[in-house]
Amino acid sequence: MKVRRTEMGTWIKIIEVENIPSMGARKVVIANEEIALFKTRDELIFAVKNECPHKKGQLSEGLVHEHIITCPLHNLDINLENGVALEEGAGCVKPYETKIEEGMVYIQF
Ligand code: FES
Repeated sequence: MKVRRTEMGTWIKIIEVENIPSMGARKVVIANEEIALFKTRDELIFAVKNECPHKKGQLSEGLVHEHIITCPLHNLDINLENGVALEEGAGCVKPYETKIEEGMVYIQF
């Protein structure tokens, strides 16, 4: 795994973009933290901690629509752009910066 350091953190090379299904997800574990990666219909990649703020549902098993993930357990909608649940007071999940370079997805960790 190639790692490049920046002032903001470390960019970690994760997976080829084409290996994340459109409107689907992949999960990875980095330093004991499970992270869910999502590809939206408009081909953007988002990454958040793979744990719903409600009762820890696996967000990687959820439904991707627009820039939102719907938790598979109790249907909480979470904005993938910032990790904030759309229902007021429902909390948030930790988001990670992502970038794509030469067809590879990187997460800032
Ligand atoms: S665990 Fe996600 S909505 Fe309940």
